[in-house]
Amino acid sequence: MDTGLLHLHNLLRWIILVLLIASIAIAFSGWQNKKPFTAGAKRIWLFTLIFSHLTLVLGLYQWLWGRYGMLKTTLPEGVSIMKNKFYRFFWVEHPSFMIIAIILITLGYRMSKKPVPDVVKYKRAFWMFVVALLMILLAVPWPFREVVARPWFPGM
Ligand code: HEM
Repeated sequence: MDTGLLHLHNLLRWIILVLLIASIAIAFSGWQNKKPFTAGAKRIWLFTLIFSHLTLVLGLYQWLWGRYGMLKTTLPEGVSIMKNKFYRFFWVEHPSFMIIAIILITLGYRMSKKPVPDVVKYKRAFWMFVVALLMILLAVPWPFREVVARPWFPGM
């Protein structure tokens, strides 16, 4: 089961990236062209929110009970979390960057409900989604990263 959940966590990254880029494009175009806020925009932002929260739940599971989960793993003798690149990444950097990114996605989605002019909704959501995207890109264990590299797709 653990492997299946990790594969799902891996795969959801692509869904989040596609949805987040679509959310950014919608927010940018709405802001720049002063478009009225639409139900379609809200729906895409909502899907981005749902998939990021799902990834958060799966991530929390990996973090606590996964292969290297904090509640399951005993650090090798003499290893300290912050001095070990692998554990620092998966126990501290990856979770904290991703949690901040998901908070930003949540705040971006919430703009759709705020009683502010539509152009303000689009503009604020745009910036929140852009920062969230940058944080996700920085914190994914891409296959080209040293020490923490993981495959592009599950099971590769
Ligand atoms: C947008 C949010 C996130 C994305 C895109 C993401 C992406 C990924 C990817 C691509 C992997 C590699 C999977 C593999 O080895 O096949 C991974 C691993 C992992 N993620 Fe996330 N993650 C996110 C959020 C989180 C959060 C919030 C946490 C913890 C609270 C978390 C904890 C972990 C852990 C512990 C692993 C390593 C699991 C293992 O190797 O056993 N992730 N993540």
